[in-house]
Amino acid sequence: MSRPRSLTGRPVVITGAASGIGRALATRLSRLGSPVALADVDADGLKATAAALHGKVLTRVLDVRDAEDQLRFAAEVKDWLPAPLAAVFNNAGVAVTSTVLDAVPEDDDWLHEINFKGVVHGTRAFLPILVEQGEGAIVNTSSVYGLLGVPYQSAYCAAKFAVRGFTESLRQELRGSAVRAVTVHPGGITTNIARNARVRRDPQGLGRTQEQLAAQFEAMTMTSPDKAAAVIHAGVDRGKARILVGPDAYLFDALARITPTHYNAVLSRVMRRPRRTEAVR
Ligand SMILES: NC(=O)c1ccc[n+]([C@@H]2O[C@H](COP(=O)([O-])OP(=O)(O)OC[C@H]3O[C@@H](n4cnc5c(N)ncnc54)[C@H](O)[C@@H]3O)[C@@H](O)[C@H]2O)c1
Repeated sequence: MSRPRSLTGRPVVITGAASGIGRALATRLSRLGSPVALADVDADGLKATAAALHGKVLTRVLDVRDAEDQLRFAAEVKDWLPAPLAAVFNNAGVAVTSTVLDAVPEDDDWLHEINFKGVVHGTRAFLPILVEQGEGAIVNTSSVYGLLGVPYQSAYCAAKFAVRGFTESLRQELRGSAVRAVTVHPGGITTNIARNARVRRDPQGLGRTQEQLAAQFEAMTMTSPDKAAAVIHAGVDRGKARILVGPDAYLFDALARITPTHYNAVLSRVMRRPRRTEAVR
């Protein structure tokens, strides 16, 4: 299959652009000349992302859970587009930490509505534009937690496995066309995700605060948001169907193949060991 056209300089849509990976993607692609349509529920963060950019930007306060508003946003983007849309990054996401026994249904529903349904709504809203153009990429963010299940992340893992299943199904439907469906599986990236997570209590009963749990998560991350954006950009440009981000993502992927039921013994050893992040190296 021929290599797709590079994203560089071509218009993109990014959700979750007020922070982390979404902001880094917006910054990178805008710097390289792409007009960027950015959405997030966090109006101030979105404004801050846009203020640092020099190219053409459309910002839109949007809750990805709102299917109707995603359709309105897609129509606005279509009117705004200076050229065919190269890619839609359905990236917005949140986290919940809890045992299954202690899970609060309202927290799990909140996560599923954003991390899974938000991706579905974004795909449904923008796919018709790409199909009409006859090219472009839907890039849906799963996780390494969409490759393996890990303790205290049942809702997150379920949603990220669902994103993977949904996107892989879509990929098969699009076979033979120049519209692509891409899955992104980041390992630990040093962003605000753990600080913004819903945590009612330490799932291991060790009395750690959310701040302490977030600091532990951040100490384990191996990749900065800028590095993640560069890997995702390169992966989409190379025509990859599935993009692994960070060395830990390659470990998760290998474990899923080699030891699909006993991986926890290896993972718990690796994840206990704090690392210096690529961001501070
Ligand atoms: N950081 C990691 O280690 C990691 C690993 C794997 C996957 N991911 C995924 O990467 C994506 C980006 O997360 P991040 O790490 O940059 O986190 P982040 O918290 O830094 O950024 C997430 C962004 O999504 C936005 N958002 C949350 N709910 C929203 C909603 N309802 N509507 C619109 N926007 C909303 C937030 O306001 C925020 O700006 C998420 O899908 C996350 O699950 C992150």
